Amino acid sequence: MKIDTILIASDHAGFEMKEQIKEYLRAKFDFQIIDLGANDAKTSVDYPDFAHSLAKKIDDKTYGVLICGTGIGISIAANRHEGVRAALCHNVDTAILAREHNDANVIAFGARVIDLDLAKEMLKAFFTTQFAGGRHENRVKKIETKG
Ligand code: RB5
Repeated sequence: MKIDTILIASDHAGFEMKEQIKEYLRAKFDFQIIDLGANDAKTSVDYPDFAHSLAKKIDDKTYGVLICGTGIGISIAANRHEGVRAALCHNVDTAILAREHNDANVIAFGARVIDLDLAKEMLKAFFTTQFAGGRHENRVKKIETKG
């Protein structure tokens, strides 16, 4: 995992958590952190717009953080993009396993489901855990095939 940039996006439901997480990521990591919106918590917006905007920019060195109310809608939309493996995580274990087993390049979570401290712990785990490779390599490759 060679990260240059972390993109972060949310809808209105995830806005407040996004703002706090942005500060945390900037303080904790040397990566470039780019905020793709939303820009406030009051204007109701559509989570797929932010998921697509972020997912289009994911590449080998560009990872992502997506936040909506539950993390569900925004991760579903992001996963429509080839090469994007967005993992909806609920705790530190799922954040670690998303990297080790699934080589996830986007972490998603719900601002109405988890608290800020847990979100920070999950981000620390996600961005410091390497893909385990081995038996997981072929499984991850198979994700991109249509069966
Ligand atoms: C917005 O109210 C909410 O539906 C959205 O943030 C998300 O939870 C959708 O999956």
